[in-house]
Amino acid sequence: MNQEKVIVLDFGGQYNQLIARRVRECNVYCEVHPHYISVEEIRKMNPKGIIFTGGPNSAYLEDSPTCSKEIFEMGIPILGICYGSQLMAHLLGGSVKTAPVSEYGKAEVTIESESELFADVSKNTVCWMSHTDYIETPPQGFQIIGHTSACPVAAMECPKRGLYATQFHPEVMHTAEGQKMLSNFVYRICGCKGDWQMDSFVENTIKSIREKVGSGKALCALSGGVDSSVAAVILAKAVGKQLTCVFVDHGLLRKNEGDEVEAVFGPNGPYNLNFIRVNAQERFYQKLSGITEPEEKRKIIGEEFIRVFEEEAKKIGAVDFLVQGTIYPDVIESGLGKSATIKSHHNVGGLPDYVDFKEIIEPLRLLFKDEVRQAGRELGIPEHLVSRQPFPGPGLGIRIIGEVTAEKVKIVQDADAIYREEIANAGLDKTVSQYFAALTNMRSVGVMGDERTYDYAVALRAVTTTDFMTAECADIPFEVLQKVMNRIVNEVKGVNRVVYDLSSKPPGTIEFE
Ligand code: XMP
Repeated sequence: MNQEKVIVLDFGGQYNQLIARRVRECNVYCEVHPHYISVEEIRKMNPKGIIFTGGPNSAYLEDSPTCSKEIFEMGIPILGICYGSQLMAHLLGGSVKTAPVSEYGKAEVTIESESELFADVSKNTVCWMSHTDYIETPPQGFQIIGHTSACPVAAMECPKRGLYATQFHPEVMHTAEGQKMLSNFVYRICGCKGDWQMDSFVENTIKSIREKVGSGKALCALSGGVDSSVAAVILAKAVGKQLTCVFVDHGLLRKNEGDEVEAVFGPNGPYNLNFIRVNAQERFYQKLSGITEPEEKRKIIGEEFIRVFEEEAKKIGAVDFLVQGTIYPDVIESGLGKSATIKSHHNVGGLPDYVDFKEIIEPLRLLFKDEVRQAGRELGIPEHLVSRQPFPGPGLGIRIIGEVTAEKVKIVQDADAIYREEIANAGLDKTVSQYFAALTNMRSVGVMGDERTYDYAVALRAVTTTDFMTAECADIPFEVLQKVMNRIVNEVKGVNRVVYDLSSKPPGTIEFE
């Protein structure tokens, strides 16, 4: 890629990708690299700027992650953040020590002097701190440009050498003017023009994948979810028929989902790719017969998925590249391009644990979910696929409590389709993070017409969350719930009761099993 870019050197901090994302929000392309890449590799990338991330270590200890001192002599502006700032100070002769007072959380930083980094930033500004070490004295040639009551060097600079450092984290939202500071760094200090947009990411990714794959063959496990769909379309645009997508219908998808995926990616869809749909429903139902324990169900579904996928891969023959829709939250060290045989581990949906491919291609590994959706829109993928809510790999298998049968799958599919339709009709589909129907294993007595019934209870779930680690039950208007209940008991055979799950997470989880 020849466009201007800023690189982030990762020293083990938890916000490394967030920094990259904030820089991309300034319309400057940014990617994360391990801290140990060589000066030559950096030079080849020709970055306009470098950012050092935070990290949990102490810069002055022998085994702590470090970088070559030569980096500071390359003439490329550097911004060190937290551990990155301490490492800069340590390597250049300043002193870094355990702080007498650790700071965690919001702190008011007082800006001490004019600095390009703080152009248009308030004199007293709230920043996010998280450190036990601190810079006691900056290296020679540096001046202090900000402090807090507990931290004498909250920020320092040596503009002559293009070196800047902040003890706080400008990338997190709690730093009120952090985005302005990062923008100052990339524009005022690195001299970037801001030529990056998602369409240029898509275009450049397509170009570089085309070069990498050459005349080789690529294989993609397509689930119909946002990530694998976007990855597949990028690959399809890059290498066309050299790509084969395998879509395993495990019979645990939402209503009509299999056909919807086939309509977009199959032979009558807009993308010219080899598409194999494996209708493995019966196979999965057989394996799941009599199984009631949630973890066992998960394992069986994951393993069976792998078996089916491997069988298809074998039929296709030697495949050079495996395409994965890995995105930032599930990035794993894959040794990309370094080893001949890659042992890949997958967390979502299940893919082979051991498969012989020359290389794995993960075009989305630097992106956050909303960036992936944006890329999907650029690629012209239909909105209903791009804006899909999360759907677990084991699918409806974990939304049916107890044994999974074809009959129960049909019940939950129908109930869920009604629920989703009514949520959309009420205009709630953009604000509720995840919502679905699940089938409980409770059967109870009811009455329909003049008949006694003994049918299942469907549970409706809707949550709001940003991180999916914690969640609150969504406040769905009562009349919407009532309408959904009415429609489900009238239209879905085998259901005589509908309940709404009020649990938050914790103590509940979002899914039922
Ligand atoms: P829980 O139920 O753990 O779910 O609160 C949190 C988020 O993760 C999704 N989820 C899964 N996704 N495979 C997946 O790919 C799984 O086994 C799985 N279990 C839960 C869930 O839908 C929610 O978005």
